Amino acid sequence: MSDSYTSKTRKSKDLYERAKDVLPGGVSYSIRHFEPYPFYTARAKGSKLFDVDGNKYVDFWLGHTALILGHSPPAVVDAVRMQLENGTHYGTSHELEIQLAEQIIKVVPSAEMVRFTNSGTEANMYVTRLARAYTGKSKIAKFEGGWHGGYDALHIGVKYPFDVPESAGLTAGALQDTIILPFNDIEEVRERLKNEEVASITVEPVLGAGGGIPAEKEFLEGLRELCSKKGILLIFDEVITGFRLAPGGGQQYYGVTPDMTVFGKILGGGFPIGAFCGRREIMQRIDTLLYERPHYSFHGGTFAANPISMTAGLTTLKILEDGESINKLNNIGGKIRERLREIFEANGVDVQVTGVGSLFNTHFIKEEVKDPRIVSKSNKKKQINYHLRLIKNGIFFLPTHTGALSTAHSQADIELLYLETEKYAKECKAR
Ligand SMILES: Cc1ncc(COP(=O)(O)O)c(C=O)c1O
Repeated sequence: MSDSYTSKTRKSKDLYERAKDVLPGGVSYSIRHFEPYPFYTARAKGSKLFDVDGNKYVDFWLGHTALILGHSPPAVVDAVRMQLENGTHYGTSHELEIQLAEQIIKVVPSAEMVRFTNSGTEANMYVTRLARAYTGKSKIAKFEGGWHGGYDALHIGVKYPFDVPESAGLTAGALQDTIILPFNDIEEVRERLKNEEVASITVEPVLGAGGGIPAEKEFLEGLRELCSKKGILLIFDEVITGFRLAPGGGQQYYGVTPDMTVFGKILGGGFPIGAFCGRREIMQRIDTLLYERPHYSFHGGTFAANPISMTAGLTTLKILEDGESINKLNNIGGKIRERLREIFEANGVDVQVTGVGSLFNTHFIKEEVKDPRIVSKSNKKKQINYHLRLIKNGIFFLPTHTGALSTAHSQADIELLYLETEKYAKECKAR
């Protein structure tokens, strides 16, 4: 990979050398680094990224899967341009925040009230606090492989081995109240929680960073039943699945309604956002007109509900509302998973293609991938080499991460993915 990549990314290399001096690891988010160095993006449009050396990449990473309409979709750009003239940030109440909340409530089964944040991490942080405030319980539960952002109480059990802390600086106090559960194993979840009192169970309907692994419907139904029985709040982290699997997210797709939901990514229409929503009586614990300190659960933020993100998000959600684009993407996603499977199988390479709807990932392993423990046994080196090879040939997946589709992807983009995958599969076979 390195020789041909380095010869066509010389300006990126120079930028990387500069970046290393001023940004730890040369990046603003450690997962964005890959070997030998990341290319530097100069611009993006539709389904493509263009780097500073003039190389073009079909983008299946889509800004951490946020860009379901592709880069700079005209409708969103036009709406934002108009809003820029009317103020970038108010710090006061405005109608757009009501409109976006109303739109979420219209399409998301669990949403009765909404609050906006600037990221998915923040939304998970506030919803966890709210769950504790509402239930009066301290402990919470999450799943192995579940990624909910860098908030201390949920930044645990993300990568295998799941008992190694994900970061330095996490205090025992922050982590001792979090129970880590096995994904897609409802029997074991019931067993582990038999003698526990927990405020909430947070689950991604599809493990995104954990490998693009869909929850089984019966698993989510089992969680719903367990939570209702034990007075636990079921929280769906739909930062990836929200407005992607269906207009109403994973909960609509699976037909399982949680008590609370967390959103991010697509909701911002390409701008920073997060949100949490859910049952009225729970959300009302944030209302300082109803509850006095220390009985209310605080939420706020300087840029919360900033008008640019609200405008971009509202425009995006309106486009997605009728489900037509999403259904189309889900169909294409199904075909991609099938074709990738066929290509690797025809070349005798053991690969499991995971994902659902317009999400997909490839794991180099024979065993069916039902949970992140199985992913941990896969051949990571082959997966990285596959993605690096795609990058070298003009297709961008952030190595090892789940890819996504946008309405901007063309059949030619997808054919290129098949072609380069076939070449890689043949190479694997020849070895
Ligand atoms: C499922 C899930 N939850 C939460 C987050 C954190 O969101 P953010 O990066 O906006 O803080 C992410 C980000 O990748 C995510 O995939």
